[in-house]
Amino acid sequence: MANMIINADIQKGIISKNIYGHFSEHLGRCIYEGIWVGEDSPIPNTRGIRNDVVEALKNINIPVLRWPGGCFADEYHWKDGVGPKESRKRMINTHWGGVIENNHFGTHEFLELCDMLGCEPYICGNVGSGTVQEMQEWVEYITFDGESPMANWRRQNGRENPWTLKYFGVGNENWGCGGNMRPEYYADVYRRYQTYVRNYGKNKVYKIACGPNTADYHWTEVLMREACSFMDGLSLHYYTVPGDSWHNKGSATNFTEQDWFKTMKKTLFMEELITKHSTIMDRYDPQKRVGLIVDEWGTWYDVEPGTNPGFLYQQNTLRDALVAGINLNIFNNHCDRVQMANIAQTVNVLQAVILTEGEKMVLTPTYHVFEMYKVHQGAILLASVMECEDYEYDGEKISQLSVSASKNSEGKIHITLCNLNPNEVAELNCELRGVNASRISGRVLTAPSMNIHNTFDNPDQVKPADFKAIYMNEKGFFATLLPMSVTVLTIE
Ligand code: AHR
Repeated sequence: MANMIINADIQKGIISKNIYGHFSEHLGRCIYEGIWVGEDSPIPNTRGIRNDVVEALKNINIPVLRWPGGCFADEYHWKDGVGPKESRKRMINTHWGGVIENNHFGTHEFLELCDMLGCEPYICGNVGSGTVQEMQEWVEYITFDGESPMANWRRQNGRENPWTLKYFGVGNENWGCGGNMRPEYYADVYRRYQTYVRNYGKNKVYKIACGPNTADYHWTEVLMREACSFMDGLSLHYYTVPGDSWHNKGSATNFTEQDWFKTMKKTLFMEELITKHSTIMDRYDPQKRVGLIVDEWGTWYDVEPGTNPGFLYQQNTLRDALVAGINLNIFNNHCDRVQMANIAQTVNVLQAVILTEGEKMVLTPTYHVFEMYKVHQGAILLASVMECEDYEYDGEKISQLSVSASKNSEGKIHITLCNLNPNEVAELNCELRGVNASRISGRVLTAPSMNIHNTFDNPDQVKPADFKAIYMNEKGFFATLLPMSVTVLTIE
């Protein structure tokens, strides 16, 4: 039996809607095919952008989209991607598969996509191989309203008014693919580059510094010590890689309970990472002004057999749904510091929410979790305390349940619960404090076996269903959570 208390009168801050953000890179079939098919494509599109993908992303209220990378960002020269398409430079995407990048999807197309989605753009600038001037001019091109060489060029290229651009990253993984820098060096480089990321007119840029790789606490320490006052956000990248090494990451679909357990355990490590990085940040920024921006997270498996190893195309099962549910609960529960998170990556790459094949599109189990959890966007985090059984495997233990709870502007309470145990139900007794509840309803995402996934021939194998194993009692409610499930409850 698990016991939980939700304190509806202890409010712990706002869950930024940007925790439900996405990341799309010029990698494999994410941008090209997944989002951009070109104006002449038989696939229904609006000015080259696929309609089905836009509709699906709107349905999960995508709040923010990070682009153009990733590692690609530190080799991207934005001027190659504006102006008439026929004269845009063709280049090699050296990081990802060595394929031709024709630059047909550039700044205008990305910002148009964000307009269609109604989401904030988050652009990552090139520090590794780009100049300060290039970065300065990009921001000027996008946001300057007056007379200037860049603003005039934008007008020549068909866009009269500037765009609003809030989120700007000063480099990506500059400890690795973005220049192999040491934190001491990058901190100075960051201070220099960000100086020229200017606020034009009313546009106010939220500047994001490259943060640590996983548990590199030294990086966080140095960046906070040397550059805290120059940044609004510090990024964190952490992927769930269930295999033994980067050379043997494990299959996305063909796995055992041992792999399942490892995946859950490695996902729960996000809690420790956020706690420890936040503790360092607290020393330099006790007011929590600077956000921790988890702008790359998700599962990373071996690619699907027969696909280009540089394209990072993987399937997505019920296991991925649990990974998403756990991570999102962790981010919600740390909303005092986590101001944004971006799952890697939106379409056809890593833990994608959408897969495409020609004109076909499939929504993955991860997509359904984002749809179920969207009720938390912008809501108030409520204090929750959980006591539950452990899920044990081969002498190791992890907590069976993961939870977060929030109250929205209409006073509705939403609780999201993951049962990590693939074999056992969880009987849950919940005491609701500080609320007079009269109605409870729920939806659940699960499947008969852990590696079930949605395919182009069978797209609805894993999808949410009504959740009935629940009733209200004097103090709150009682629920029987299914094995390997993600559940969302609404209390009114
Ligand atoms: O998401 C794939 C890659 O993972 C990104 O390009 C890079 O930032 C990270 O190493």
